[in-house]
Formats: sequence, structure tokens, C-alpha cells
Amino acid sequence: MLLGTQSINSQGHLEIGGCDTVDLAHRFGTPLYVMDEAAVRSRCAEYRQAFQACQPEALPTFAGKAFLCMAMARIVAEEGLGLDVASGGELLTALQAKFPPERILLHGNNKSVAEMEMAVAAGVGRVVVDSEPELDTLDVVAARQGRRQAIFLRITPGIKPQTHTYIQTGQIDSKFGLAITTGQAMRAVRHALAKPNLSLVGLHCHIGSSIYSIKPFEMAVQVMVELMAQVRQETGHTFADLDLGGGIGVRYQAEDEPPAIAEYAQRVNQVLCEETRRHGLPVPRLLVEPGRDISGEAGTTLYTVGVIKEIPGVRTYVSVDGGMSDNPRPALYQARYEAIVANRARDKREMDVTVAGKHCECDTLITDLAVPCTLAVGDILAVQTTGAYNFAMASNYNRFARPAVVLVGGGQAEVIVERQSLEDVIAHDRIPERLRPEG
Ligand code: LLP
Repeated sequence: MLLGTQSINSQGHLEIGGCDTVDLAHRFGTPLYVMDEAAVRSRCAEYRQAFQACQPEALPTFAGKAFLCMAMARIVAEEGLGLDVASGGELLTALQAKFPPERILLHGNNKSVAEMEMAVAAGVGRVVVDSEPELDTLDVVAARQGRRQAIFLRITPGIKPQTHTYIQTGQIDSKFGLAITTGQAMRAVRHALAKPNLSLVGLHCHIGSSIYSIKPFEMAVQVMVELMAQVRQETGHTFADLDLGGGIGVRYQAEDEPPAIAEYAQRVNQVLCEETRRHGLPVPRLLVEPGRDISGEAGTTLYTVGVIKEIPGVRTYVSVDGGMSDNPRPALYQARYEAIVANRARDKREMDVTVAGKHCECDTLITDLAVPCTLAVGDILAVQTTGAYNFAMASNYNRFARPAVVLVGGGQAEVIVERQSLEDVIAHDRIPERLRPEG
């Protein structure tokens, strides 16, 4: 499969954004994260157009946890989306990149006072409050700064979509949000309405991640509108916004079939219009928080092939120069990836191999990848759809340095995150006096 601007050039090499990936590997080194700028921008535009066609004021908001660095924040700002941040680090990235604060949403199930202070001082558009104690703390923080902070309450709608259990978040047994059926959601609404320095403008839910069906999102709208109706009945309060969170799955493999964004927008908007009409409520502004679907398919990781080890009658292991430190998803979620041998992209793939990383455990990146028989040491392997939760979840396991990220487009490649050096990896180590080596 070829995604975004990917193509195969006359040399039989994989190109992304008009750049030959074999050249990129030689110029910037491997492992290397390559981000396809046009693919990110077109996905942002698709969300904006699809949602704003249904509702001109709708605000698709990129979930920065999927892939955030300052250049990415700039692209998302230029494309007119909002930005969801889930930590002080993500918030600082956005603010340093001059992301418009009114389009920022702060998430987190255990926000620190420092994170809340930073968000309120910056004038972030919405803080998504996840618990009642947070209402008390945020109210005090806002009062100290002489501000009234607009908030959403995060609700657990009790919907269990079909996805990996580690990334199901909308069910009642979850550390996130306030459940409706237990009465906690309604109690938190009353609590929020009583806070003088908070303005409860909307409700939020996020039912999970990597979801390939629109149905659970329609169900979430129904449940959320029902809660809005109950709130109006019991308190007279109406909401200006409804945020449905993220969760749309992407194409990791050719057989994956993510829903079309336009259909997703139309169907959730239709249920929203029908349900609000049924309850006699105003139609709230619609927000969604796609992460993976904005950056996932735009990312490719380039590796250099090292040792090739054939175990006769069993399998052939092809080791590459990265692994679970740059992509922990196969180990964490049994995630499956597709890959292309970038310098033999047109060759027939007649042999199945297992791609292994360099880390000191199984560290399997791809099981049974079809590759050309000519595969050799020094070849460049391009693993696709690594633009979400790869760089974002990278670690220094085994004291590996984190790879660089390059942004490609129009035949140009620019580094947007520098590769760590080994000196960077040890830079924060300190040896107490008594343990210092002599001399
Ligand atoms: N909004 C909220 C409140 C979230 O918690 C998340 C993801 C999103 C939006 C974006 O979801 P997306 O559209 O990307 O599915 N590390 C896991 C994914 C964890 C997702 C956590 N929350 C993975 O690699 O699959």
C-alpha cells in the first residue's frame, strides 16, 4: 500500500513528499521518523471541511499526544484546528510554538497545580475537568489569577467499543471521567455550576482509540445529549459545546478500512441534530479530537537492515537498527505494521521474514513481512503508519538515543526534531562524590 504522497520513483525507491527515502536515510541516518507534511495538512483540512460542512462553528482538535513537537503545533495552527494537550510538556510545546491559546484544550486525569496554573495563565480555551477534586483546585487557581476559566466535564458514557482493552476508555470502570449511571456526572455538574471562577460550557467524552466503526460514536452522542437534557431539566443549564473525543482508526495494513471522515462527521452531526430536537435543546458546537487519524498515516520510520539470520525450517530474522524504543506499539498492543524495502520497492516480495529490533528482549516489530529474496544488509526498511504514538511514546530503553524527525514536502526535507546524541542520553546522570572514579 502507498499512503499520502508516497510513490515509487524511476530507481525503484520509495519516495515521500518528493524525497527519495534512501537518500533521506543516508543524509540523516537511521532510524529516522519521516513526516509527510502534505498528508498531515490534507487530513487536517479533511476534518475541518467535513465537520464545518455540517456545522460552520465545529472545531476539530488535534490530540497532540499522538505526535507533538513545535513544528507540528505550527502546522495544526495554520490548518485552523484546535489542539488537545494532556500535560505541562505538551502545553509548553504548544505555547512556545505560539499556538493560539483559545484553541487549546487541557486534558488529564491528575493535573498538577502547576499544569493548571500554566493553562489558566496562558488563557487556554477549555480545561477538561476529570474529577470533583479538580473542580475545587481549578477554581482556586482561577481565583488567584483573577480569571474565569471555561471548562468541560469529562463524562464516561458507558460505551465499550471494539478495540484493544488497553485503549478502551469510555466504559464505567475507567480511571477517566465521571460516570452517568452512578450519579457522579450529575453531581459534578452541580458542583461545577456552583464554582464562581469556572464556567461550565460543555461536556466531553472519549470512548476509546483505533475504532473502525462509526456506530459507537453515534451511541455516545445519544447518551451525551440525554445527559444534557437531564441537566437542563434539573438545573436549567444548557451547554454550548459537546466534545466527542478522538478514536478513529487508521490504515496500518492494506486490509484496514477506516471510515471516511465526511461520513463520520455527517452521521454524528445527524444524531446530534435529531437528539437535541427530540429533547428541545439547542444544538451545541461539535468538537472532536482525532490524534492517530491526523498524524498516523503521514509517518514512516526508516531503518537500516543489519544481521539477517535464517533458522532453517523455522523463520528468518531480519534485524534493524531500532526497535521497541522508537516503536513500542507491537510490544504493547500486538500492533501490526506494513513495511516496504525502500531501495527495492518494485521487486517481487517472495519471502516472509520477521523484523526484529535491537533491544534486549524479543522486540519483534513485524512478524511475517513479505520481502524480496534479494533483501541484503544495508537495505532500507520503511515501516508505514508510524506517525502516531511512535515518536510520542519513544523511550531511551537500553540507552538508545531517540531518532530525529524530518518533515518532507515538495522535494525538501527539514529536521523538526534533532536526533539525540549518546551524550544527550547520559547528560542528566550524576555520580555522587563517593562513587566517582579515581583520576
Ligand atoms: N482525546 C482523548 C481524551 C484521548 O485520551 C485520546 C487518546 C485522543 C483524544 C486521541 O485518540 P486517537 O484519535 O488518537 O485514537 N498509545 C495508544 C493510544 C492511546 C490513546 C489515548 N488517548 C496507541 O498507541 O494506540
